[in-house]
Amino acid sequence: MFSNLRQSMSAWIIKKIQRYGPHRVSVLGKTYEISENVFNPRFYYTSILMAKNIKVLSDEVVLDMGTGSGIQAITAGQTASKVIAVDINPEAVRFAKRNIIANRLENRISVIQCDLFSSLDSGHKFNVILFTPPYLEGVVKSSFDHALFDPNKELVYRFFRDAKDYIKPGGYVQMLYSSVAGPERILEIPQQFGWRHSLMAKEKTFTEEFLIYKFILV
Ligand SMILES: C[S@@+](CC[C@H](N)C(=O)[O-])C[C@H]1O[C@@H](n2cnc3c(N)ncnc32)[C@H](O)[C@@H]1O
Repeated sequence: MFSNLRQSMSAWIIKKIQRYGPHRVSVLGKTYEISENVFNPRFYYTSILMAKNIKVLSDEVVLDMGTGSGIQAITAGQTASKVIAVDINPEAVRFAKRNIIANRLENRISVIQCDLFSSLDSGHKFNVILFTPPYLEGVVKSSFDHALFDPNKELVYRFFRDAKDYIKPGGYVQMLYSSVAGPERILEIPQQFGWRHSLMAKEKTFTEEFLIYKFILV
């Protein structure tokens, strides 16, 4: 009950920030353009914390699932040999492409609009898959709502079910989750599909604690 109220309040505040906050922002020395319908990488600590914890090697191929503004793809693209960024929201795809070009990384990063892995060739395998999923309970009614809501954790379920076909041997998933959304439940889902987790980082803000997990296949 308390958790539901808290989650509804979070969604309400986020939508106000999306609407009235600046649509050109700087994060970790890079500038991102977004619209009201693209997740703002400056105002939610999740984007910054995830970006700070990306450690990708120069020979690695990376998938940025749910790219939004493109922040994680652009961060990984500084070092990775190749990055594919995916988002279900066509407006996010448009802005991610624009931000990638502005950062002169278009030769290394490509962007695809699709639902999770649905348009990826099954021959594609990645060393690292990055994912900052939506985690609030709620109904998806608009393209932006994809950035907020994952009712019954159905998206995370489908993600871990399918990700095992796209990971290279020895590769890993790096995923951020929040203490307000039942992180213990989220660990049971990947376990069912043979993923084992370890904690890469955690940070507490005054509203919640954010956890970054690393998942490998066992
Ligand atoms: C919380 S936002 C994170 C955005 C960005 N990665 C960041 O760190 O700022 C989640 C993103 O996942 C995308 N998304 C949600 N459901 C998706 C799906 N089924 N397939 C692909 N992307 C999806 C949303 O549109 C949104 O851009």
